Amino acid sequence: MGKVSFGLAVAVSCAVASTGIAAVLVVRRVRRRTRWNRVLGVLKEFEEACSTSVGRLRQVVDAMAVEMHAGLASEGGSKLKMSLSFVQKLPSGNERGIYYAVDIGGTNFRVLRVQLGGKRSAIVGCDAERQSIPQELMTSTSEDLFDFITSSLKQFIEKEGRGSELLPGRRRDLGFTFSFPVKQTSASSGHLIKWTKGFRIEDLVGRDVAECLQQAVNKKGLDVRVSALVNDTVGTLTLGHYHDPDTVAGVIIGTGTNACYLEGMDAIIKCQGLLRTSGVMVINMEWGNFWSSHLPRTSYDVDLDADSPNPNDQGFEKMISGMYLGEIARRVILRMAQESNVFGPVSPGLSMPFNLRTPLMSVMHEDESPDLREVARILDDTLGIPDVPLKVRRLVVKVCDIVTRRAARLAAAGIVGILKKIGRDGSGGITNGRTRGSSDSNMRRTVVAIEGALYTNYRSFREYLNEALVEILGEDIAQHVTLQVTKDGSGVGAALLAACHSSNIVDRDGSP
Ligand code: BGC
Repeated sequence: MGKVSFGLAVAVSCAVASTGIAAVLVVRRVRRRTRWNRVLGVLKEFEEACSTSVGRLRQVVDAMAVEMHAGLASEGGSKLKMSLSFVQKLPSGNERGIYYAVDIGGTNFRVLRVQLGGKRSAIVGCDAERQSIPQELMTSTSEDLFDFITSSLKQFIEKEGRGSELLPGRRRDLGFTFSFPVKQTSASSGHLIKWTKGFRIEDLVGRDVAECLQQAVNKKGLDVRVSALVNDTVGTLTLGHYHDPDTVAGVIIGTGTNACYLEGMDAIIKCQGLLRTSGVMVINMEWGNFWSSHLPRTSYDVDLDADSPNPNDQGFEKMISGMYLGEIARRVILRMAQESNVFGPVSPGLSMPFNLRTPLMSVMHEDESPDLREVARILDDTLGIPDVPLKVRRLVVKVCDIVTRRAARLAAAGIVGILKKIGRDGSGGITNGRTRGSSDSNMRRTVVAIEGALYTNYRSFREYLNEALVEILGEDIAQHVTLQVTKDGSGVGAALLAACHSSNIVDRDGSP
């Protein structure tokens, strides 16, 4: 072979090799693009399924108001329990003295001592001790639970300084905030219907939780009387109303979610004949269990529900509250990882249920660093996914945004549902499931007391909720509605209600 033909052969094989390499690169690029498109497809599908147009939110509003009506008409008439709280008067502001509360219902447990000065808004002092609830206690026995509560209460009382001794014949009045679905039999007694938020202490279901606490308190030798049994929403409404008498509802958006509001006795059909039919009563809606075909439900919600300890229950709560938002986001990210290799091999951390907690999700969502450093850190530290490229981190932020936006907007629709039911949405309210004639000219100032870490600590959630409220109501009506954050209302409100029901108090006069 001559030099020329050898050179030609080399050139040809080089050309073949580089064409081959180019072909491989093209194939790789095409595959990468296909996988990326698949990931974008997952995102798009999720975003569309979570859509909360104002039209859809208005349907949710209507459904909420109709279900409220059905739940008030008969026991079991709706998935909304619309439980009677037996709170027919709220503190007048004249209450004085020292009252206590224990507050259990989410990730934290609190004991409080509240000193009331006898004038509206005169909370002279408030001491509170908070501790997180040991995980094992949530699925233990009622004996362990009440022992934990009363031991904490005993230590709290023992730490009190001199001057707090009881007068002879007096007991300390305590409000018991127990934030799970309860069928109340009076303002200070009620049976646990079922657990939510990951609690599961089977032997307490069906029992009077206030009586159980009283027995545990007696066993510890404490001079304490459980004078009020209170849902956290009712505590929040009570404190809100104590500061501002235009307060008509209380909402919690934290680990779980729920709302209560002031309802006219004549509208509570299911208790007519049992109770006087004039005046008002606080109704604990247990809205976490609300359901409507108008809710934008995705395959991730369906799977989360099926895998939960309470399938078919708490559907609204599972789309809104802090217990679930991180988990929804984790499921979407997992699906993306399974559809492609944008997150590398699927990590055990990503596959672990409830491994992405909502507070971490919110940090990723609100990461303002240019290279989304926090997103990368949490993906690595918590989910075990290292070295995630920037464009994939952006995708994760988008997932968090979709989950949060839907949750906040649905919560806003729930609030407007209440306003509609009581005629404070500018439409004149509903009677017998039908909308009354509309009139927004006489709209009264309306305050909704609100608490819960999701609303108070998560700026994007709060902004989405507030924005949706204005969208649904329209600016003219929305300007009459105030969402007022209360502080420790679930506990302080329970102490206020204990004061209302105290046998020690001099002035117990009050009217909502
Ligand atoms: C409970 C409610 C409670 C809400 C907020 C829900 O899971 O069922 O009773 O008010 O969480 O804490």
